[in-house]
Amino acid sequence: MKHDVIIACDFKSAEDTFKFLDLFKDEERKPFLKIGMELFYAEGPSIVKEIKRRGHKIFLDLKLHDIPNTVKKAMMVLSRLDVDMCNVHAAGTIDMMRAALEGLTREDGTRPLLIAVTQLTSTSEERMRNELLIDASINDTIVKYAQNTREAGLDGVVCSPLEAGMVHEACGREFLTITPGVRFADGAVGDQVRVTTPARAREIGSDFIVVGRPVTQAEDPVAAYRRCVKEFLGE
Ligand code: C5P
Repeated sequence: MKHDVIIACDFKSAEDTFKFLDLFKDEERKPFLKIGMELFYAEGPSIVKEIKRRGHKIFLDLKLHDIPNTVKKAMMVLSRLDVDMCNVHAAGTIDMMRAALEGLTREDGTRPLLIAVTQLTSTSEERMRNELLIDASINDTIVKYAQNTREAGLDGVVCSPLEAGMVHEACGREFLTITPGVRFADGAVGDQVRVTTPARAREIGSDFIVVGRPVTQAEDPVAAYRRCVKEFLGE
């Protein structure tokens, strides 16, 4: 499916994760889940296998960034884990992204979706200039990194929903935008700065929204997930 709601499972242990997932056991629609570094480093590949066994799709958010050969070898391992989406930093260069794609592609030609992080939302223009010596604006950097990602043959980028339109304009409608920073109109924003609602994210052109705390910390996580699906997918 091209569009979906991905729940960010930012839990510290398998125990917490499964306690959360058990809430969804009677749901017909098994949520697409994002597993990040904290959980993966704490629990290892076994957690990915167990979540897959329960019928969920997985975005393994490990943001690889190393020399092309190392990233290729690491991606070969991840492709055997049978995840549905994984990612790299576009800053690793086009060569690194091509190597990642090669490593991820199985012998039968199938592979998980591969996307790239452009600029982290925690990086300000000021830090780019003073610490990384990048003089271009954040938006120009995002567009250029997205174009590099497309040139390397990857499927899309992670970006703010507010940037999804700009990325599609530069890279085409088929190029995927995966967007965190989603909040309900009546919900808490927390530490996110540039946020928008599921419905508005869809209007701007986001293909997948990544939603964490509005679902995981909700009083009724299943109802919050259903609300996201309804607002984003209209189902
Ligand atoms: O709880 P919340 O909805 O803010 O979670 C968003 C998820 O997306 C977190 O896992 C966060 O690390 C991730 N993310 C983000 N902004 C980015 C990249 C990833 O919020 N630019």
